[in-house]
Order: sequence, then structure tokens, then C-alpha cells
Amino acid sequence: MQKKITKAVIPAAGLGTRFLPATKALPKEMLPVVDKPAIQYVVEEAVEAGLEDVLMIVGRGKDALTNHFDRVLELEDTLERKGDLARLKRVNASSDLADVHFVRQGDPKGLGHAVLRAKNHVGDQPFAVLLGDDLIDERDPLLSLMLDEQVARQATIIALMEVPPESIHMYGAAAVEATDNPDVVRVTGLVEKPDAADAPSNLALIGRYVLRPEVFAVLEKTPPGKGGEIQLTDALQVLAADPSIAGGVYGVVFRGRRYDTGDRADYIKAIVQLAVEREDLGLELRPWLKDFVHTLE
Ligand code: UTP
Repeated sequence: MQKKITKAVIPAAGLGTRFLPATKALPKEMLPVVDKPAIQYVVEEAVEAGLEDVLMIVGRGKDALTNHFDRVLELEDTLERKGDLARLKRVNASSDLADVHFVRQGDPKGLGHAVLRAKNHVGDQPFAVLLGDDLIDERDPLLSLMLDEQVARQATIIALMEVPPESIHMYGAAAVEATDNPDVVRVTGLVEKPDAADAPSNLALIGRYVLRPEVFAVLEKTPPGKGGEIQLTDALQVLAADPSIAGGVYGVVFRGRRYDTGDRADYIKAIVQLAVEREDLGLELRPWLKDFVHTLE
């Protein structure tokens, strides 16, 4: 019987060129979303789904990531002396969260290459991959459903979301067939960042995957694709085309709230949306935002 899935891999070694110069020395996953770095939301999501062994693939600005998930005794001492226990609790939240490991990617040769760096840590069990620039609202379940599907189908599970046809060129797009479950589709093909005219559907891959260890052997043979990068989508296409390798690929169609923080405009929208809903900030922000919107009209 398959063991319970416990490992999550979070690639955070991309160059983040869309956010330069903010990402010159800082990984984009460390950019704050309200008052937490984006990656902390993602680690919290993994832990919530029962994945407490987290491997981060890191590159430039590695220290910011390792320090964030480590204890900072000086800061803890100062807050304790001041009696600021609420802030102390929030500071400790990230270091107490999970068992976090790090591995360097070296050259950022693409998402597929980053995932391949997890091979030794992951071993021969299925594992989840979560991208730090896709935030899934904690009120809308996704990862736990994907983990259940993986156990039930013994296949590779990806997360899909309908996007407007004019946006599909920014994502991987899936060709799909229906299954007996309206929220799950069988994936028959995948294309990375297709032109709208060539896209097999407007179902886009979003940054959550539950992969089987067979993906590593496929990634080892995957040549650079779109943008000269080793694409995870290309390896998944091989698995979708030949179910005899690892049971094929299924997609869980997500209809909940997702915040894309990898794009500047979407990042700002995500912060506004999440901040107005917060108990400690919403009361002040909502009326201000309404007034501000009036000044735009
Ligand atoms: P993106 O393509 O969105 O990230 O990769 P990027 O290349 O950093 O962004 P831009 O387009 O230059 O602004 C998706 C995810 O894969 C990781 C990124 O950190 C991000 O979480 N990634 C990408 C790696 O870890 N290594 C890579 O070589 C490429």
C-alpha cells in the first residue's frame, strides 16, 4: 500500500525578472503579501494538507528564505523584553511551522530542472509541488482534494483553472476528457504557454501538482523547451501521453479564489483583496478604498 504523502517541494529559485529590481537580491517568493512573505502562505497551505516535510529549491537570495524559516533569537529576546507577545507569536509562527529543508538549484534552468533537484530528498514516494507565486485562498480546498485523487487514481494530479482565452498564453494549457466526477478531468495532452489559437482548451495549469517519483526519470530526459528552459509541463505531457509510465495525468478543476503574485498588477490586486478582508486592517481600509475609487471616476 502507498504510504501517506508527507513531502512538499517548493521551487523558489526563479529569477523573478518581472519584479526587478525588487528581486535583484530577494527571491520573489519573499515579497510581502500584506505582512507575510508569499512563501509563508504556501508553506501554511502545505502543512494544513498534512505535508510537514518541506523542501525549498533555492537560488539567489537564499539567505532571506533560510532566515525566515529559522529562529531569530535577538528579535525574539527584544520582543519578549518588551512584553510584545502577540508579535513574538507571529515571529515564531514561521520557524515553528514545518520541517523545512533547502537545496540549491545552481543554474535556474527552468521549473522542471528545479523539481528534478528534489529527487534525492523525495525518494520513491509521491510528493506535492507548490509554486510560491500562486496563492490559494485557505477557505477554498484544493491540495487536500488533489492528494485524495492521487491516492484513489495512483496517477499524477495537476490543478487546472479556467482562464479567459486571451490569457492562456501565459500558462500551460491542458487537453482534457471528462470523468465521472465533474471536478476531475483526464488530461490527454499539455502545451506550455500556447498561442490562444493553438491552445487545446482554456484550462490552465496553476501552481499545484501531486507527482509520482517516475517524473524524475522523465525530467532527466526532458530537453529545454519554451524559453530554453526545462519545462515541468513537457515532462507531464510525456506522462499524459503514455499512462503505462505512471498511471496517466488527471486534473482537479479549481473554481475557488486564487491570487497570482508573480505578476505586478495581480500582486497588487492580491494584497488589496486579502487586506480588506483582514479583521485588523479591513475596517480602516474599506472606507478609504471606496473614497479612493471615487477620486478615479
Ligand atoms: P516563473 O517562470 O513564474 O518564475 O516560475 P520566474 O522565472 O522567477 O519569473 P519571471 O517570469 O522571471 O518573473 C514558476 C516558479 O518556478 C520557480 C520560480 O521560483 C517560481 O516559483 N523556478 C522557475 C525555479 O525554482 N527555478 C527555475 O529555474 C525557474
